[in-house]
Amino acid sequence: MLGNFSYCNPTKLYFGENALDNLHTELKKYGKNVLLVYGGGSIKKNGLYDAVMAILKDEGKNVAEDPGVMPNPTIHKLYEGVEIARRHNAEFILAVGGGSVIDYSKALCVSVNSGDDDLWEKYFIRFEEPTCETLPVGAILTMAGTGSEMNAGAVITHPEKKLKMGHVFADEKIMPRFSIMNPRYTMSLPKYQMVAGIYDIFNHICEQYFSGADDNTSDYLAEGLMRSVIKSSRDAIQDPQNYEARSNIMWSSTWALNTLISRGKSGDWMVHMLGQSVGGVTNATHGMTLAAVSLPYYRFIMDAGLPKFARFAQTVWNVDPSGKSERELAESGLAAMESWMKELGLVLSLRELGASEASLDDLVNGTVVLGGGYKVLSKDDVRKVFADSL
Ligand code: NZQ
Ligand code: ZN
Repeated sequence: MLGNFSYCNPTKLYFGENALDNLHTELKKYGKNVLLVYGGGSIKKNGLYDAVMAILKDEGKNVAEDPGVMPNPTIHKLYEGVEIARRHNAEFILAVGGGSVIDYSKALCVSVNSGDDDLWEKYFIRFEEPTCETLPVGAILTMAGTGSEMNAGAVITHPEKKLKMGHVFADEKIMPRFSIMNPRYTMSLPKYQMVAGIYDIFNHICEQYFSGADDNTSDYLAEGLMRSVIKSSRDAIQDPQNYEARSNIMWSSTWALNTLISRGKSGDWMVHMLGQSVGGVTNATHGMTLAAVSLPYYRFIMDAGLPKFARFAQTVWNVDPSGKSERELAESGLAAMESWMKELGLVLSLRELGASEASLDDLVNGTVVLGGGYKVLSKDDVRKVFADSL
């Protein structure tokens, strides 16, 4: 375990079938004017909206609503939310939804008091920290995947610029003050969203795992989480109503990206950089953008991180090493991962997400190249990985 680091995660979690009861206690800590943020209507269909409104009423809150947060929330929607929050003098933001709703609420919490700042340039191009007062955010999670319920990340899309950019804020105040996590809520998710979320979780773990060469506790934690995600995902696709599997998936999503397993790691994050560019160009579902580029990317960098890919094959996929060279072992690990991705029904081609050869320039231009993994990609490398992913 090398490196110098600090660790602090202040988000309080309430997990399980009775988790929503704790909303009463939490709401008492914040002001009367609450902004309720949600997405396109799934919470109205599954009854959660009514349950949350009843608690807000019970606690005497003055509620304004900011509905319609779309998957891959846009900068234009953010400006709309700022207006609603200012008009309402919002003192607290309650986010009810998946990663998009929670990310958007964090972006909102740093924007409401930021005057006339250009929010896109300030937070998503220059990656500045807020200098204004921020609003507290609380979350009720309805989809497992992003880890947004316990981190300081916010990903916002600028459709005209075809850019999707993520800002992980440094200030822990931006993390949700609390998150309510009832796995039962995720059971109304369509299968496409469920498996996209599962792959998002798995890839968050890979992004942190595939970096560094020291003996690191974070890697052992990562392997355990990956094994749990693989097991639970197989159970959940057999029976989406399997509470045990859905609860393990939800809990793994949080620990995959709440900064724990990144301690002492540089982190790769190139699958996310490639996937975000795909999202900016096609507006496709986040987890599917990652799935489509992962195997071409990992096969492209494998030789640069061979010992780790060989370890991945053995510890995560139980590949028998006997008679295999290190390279063959590493290849077998990725082959096992490919079979699992097919079992889940993940999208393995960018074409299926609406991209084509004609998109390659935009895809390359929209990719931010990071240097924390086993290989630093040139622009030509990025183009090759995208071309192999078509
Ligand atoms: O909008 P509604 O009607 O609620 O429908 C949503 C949406 O259509 C639906 N859904 C969510 N919960 C449901 C449900 N439908 C039925 N029953 C439920 N219980 O699912 C669809 C997708 O929701 P969304 O919130 O977009 O999905 P996800 O949680 O995957 O979030 C994706 C966003 O998070 C960002 C992504 O880039 C993307 O913009 N990420 C955030 C990260 C972070 N904060 O650290 C990291 C991730 O890598 C990711 O980049
Ligand atoms: Zn992700």
